[in-house]
Amino acid sequence: MTTLDDLPIRDDLRGLTPYGAPQLDVPVRLNTNENSYPVPEPVVEAIGKAVAAELRDLNRYPDRDALALRADLADYLGHGLTVDHVWAANGSNEIQQQLLQAFGGPGRTALGFTPAYSMHPLLALGTGTGWIPAARDADFGLTVTDAVAQVRAHRPDVVFLCSPNNPTGTALDPAVVEGVLAEAPGMVIVDEAYAEFARPGTVSALAVLPKHPRLVVTRTMSKAFGFAGGRLGYLAADPAVVQAVQLVRLPYHLSALTQAAARAALAHRDALLGTVTAIMEQRDRIVADLRARGHRVADSDANFVLFEVGGDQAGPWRALLDAGVLVRDVGLPGWLRVTAGTPAETDAFLSAMEKLS
Ligand SMILES: Cc1ncc(COP(=O)(O)O)c(C=O)c1O
Repeated sequence: MTTLDDLPIRDDLRGLTPYGAPQLDVPVRLNTNENSYPVPEPVVEAIGKAVAAELRDLNRYPDRDALALRADLADYLGHGLTVDHVWAANGSNEIQQQLLQAFGGPGRTALGFTPAYSMHPLLALGTGTGWIPAARDADFGLTVTDAVAQVRAHRPDVVFLCSPNNPTGTALDPAVVEGVLAEAPGMVIVDEAYAEFARPGTVSALAVLPKHPRLVVTRTMSKAFGFAGGRLGYLAADPAVVQAVQLVRLPYHLSALTQAAARAALAHRDALLGTVTAIMEQRDRIVADLRARGHRVADSDANFVLFEVGGDQAGPWRALLDAGVLVRDVGLPGWLRVTAGTPAETDAFLSAMEKLS
């Protein structure tokens, strides 16, 4: 049988394993920061109708520029954004890949402040972009001074900021975004996949877009909208950035079914986003409960919580799994990450944690 090693695969891909959290069939799955609430029935019906209306025309390619969907996304974001400022793709992963294809690539570099979203370096790898792992503080914070100094030292073509940051959960001080924009010679991507869960008063980088043509804010419908299976991510930026990604996107990358389903979901955004407050309550409950039991816990503006278990985190991860609760080992020694879901899921997680200690 032929193995990967027998193929003339790129040297930099040799020996690697594909990215992915375990998809295990356990009662309580809290490891990929999905929205635990199923799509409400009226929205299921609306999406069904919208998708059905496309079926007869599937002999034709979809709208290559997804204009109607982009207009709906701009309307959702507000901030005076229009269809020309917004671009959409199959998840924000694809958006970020397109950004690296356009602004990174061979001979160029991208920098991120680790620990952050683990796909950023993998997207750099896949696009032949050199990856520079910059550091956060010991308590996972990031100050303007540190961020700017590291950007100055490396002068990367692309900087990834993540706010709220995955896996730590904390939103960035807007001064970090401003400081990095002032120092960075190239593009600055702020990954705001979890923006809708941020605590009151948190400022989105969308607010400063008009001042910064090299700033890109990426968002997704996978988290707050509960639309992870629909695969829809998007960016907001200067219209010139949208023109740049159009140079590298595959033609017709976003199927007519995806566009129709996402538009129907956006039309019902109040129903879909109706779960956000309940999820934030569970998030705050997890933080408070674990702190009360003496765990160190990172502040969270997202739908997940990073908490310290001490020692080798693999043991507690396994013990939680044995209790039917799947959380995420993000590879941070002594720490685990849990998604905030329904009250019943929090109950199951917290009682499994109680048995650990
Ligand atoms: C920080 C961050 N960005 C982007 C994504 C990717 O989301 P999607 O490709 O589903 O839009 C995730 C998913 O977990 C994430 O945590």
